[in-house]
Amino acid sequence: MADVRPESLKRITTRAQADDFIADQIAAIKEQVGDKKVLLALSGGVDSSVVAALLIKAIGENLVCVHVNHGLLRKGEPEMVCKVFRDELGANLIYIDAVDRFLDLLAGVTDPEQKRHIIGEEFIKVFAEEAAKLDGISFLAQGTIYPDILESEQGIKAHHNVGGLPPELDFELVEPVKYLYKDEVRVVGSALGLPDNMVYRQPFPGPGLGVRCPGAITRDRLEAVRESDAILREEFEKAGLAGKVWQYFTVVPDFKSTGIKDEKRAFEWLCIVRAINTTDVVKCTVEPIDYDLMCRITDRITHEVPGINRVLYDYTPKPTATVEYE
Ligand code: XMP
Repeated sequence: MADVRPESLKRITTRAQADDFIADQIAAIKEQVGDKKVLLALSGGVDSSVVAALLIKAIGENLVCVHVNHGLLRKGEPEMVCKVFRDELGANLIYIDAVDRFLDLLAGVTDPEQKRHIIGEEFIKVFAEEAAKLDGISFLAQGTIYPDILESEQGIKAHHNVGGLPPELDFELVEPVKYLYKDEVRVVGSALGLPDNMVYRQPFPGPGLGVRCPGAITRDRLEAVRESDAILREEFEKAGLAGKVWQYFTVVPDFKSTGIKDEKRAFEWLCIVRAINTTDVVKCTVEPIDYDLMCRITDRITHEVPGINRVLYDYTPKPTATVEYE
């Protein structure tokens, strides 16, 4: 039977509506879970973060959050997850440093689909191993939102949260935001006290920076993607574009060109800046970036990021291009 948003659930646009929703969900979670333990894969994305904050309010220590660092996260993200959830919200958080494990597996892999597959499979393995170490877990919380349900029912995409969990993870699901749209999840996240940079975070693909490092991922080029992405985010923030442009990021392909650094020939990578706007992600337009801003970003990336001697801006809409490069 189709899983349909209840008619009684009105659109959540205000703080008062969010507070009511939070109170209702806390009661519902308490009733569903009782004094049992719940496990949650906390990526730092909006949806899983809001679910974590809700469950912490409802059941406190009985929520066990697992944050897997696969080495493909943006600069400062694992630290932010630990700071917000462990230090500020007092979450029972297990941090797994799986960076070497993922990067070793990905070494030399050039095919985009194979890269995605390895990242997805390994994530599930790491998570399942961690779950097996824990005693008395009966529930699995997920940041499923309403578009996930609609899209999986229409066959547009596999339900990204349910998709690949192995059968031995035989948990009952807790999905407190499954009838909400993204903008409603954000209102609830703010009402729960989560920081703006978490709540209004731009979309970030599951395979992370892995798809922005086209070709075989190497640690040095991955670092160049991470550092250039951090500079771009900083400059967009300063220019007041952070909440306005839908998605923006850098890509460092496995390609070098000749340049000059410190008056010497420098054969280094190029960095592509992409900034797009969209309402449905099916079609995207390119942000008409200000010339001076682009010069500043270029200057910073070529001088601050080791291995980059050239910056390009991608003017291609979707279609013909996709948003990501892989
Ligand atoms: P494309 O490149 O298909 O991207 O035009 C459309 C949107 O989807 C995001 N994206 C992904 N998100 N896992 C995700 O969770 C993925 O494998 C993935 N690939 C692309 C992309 O960032 C953009 O917002």
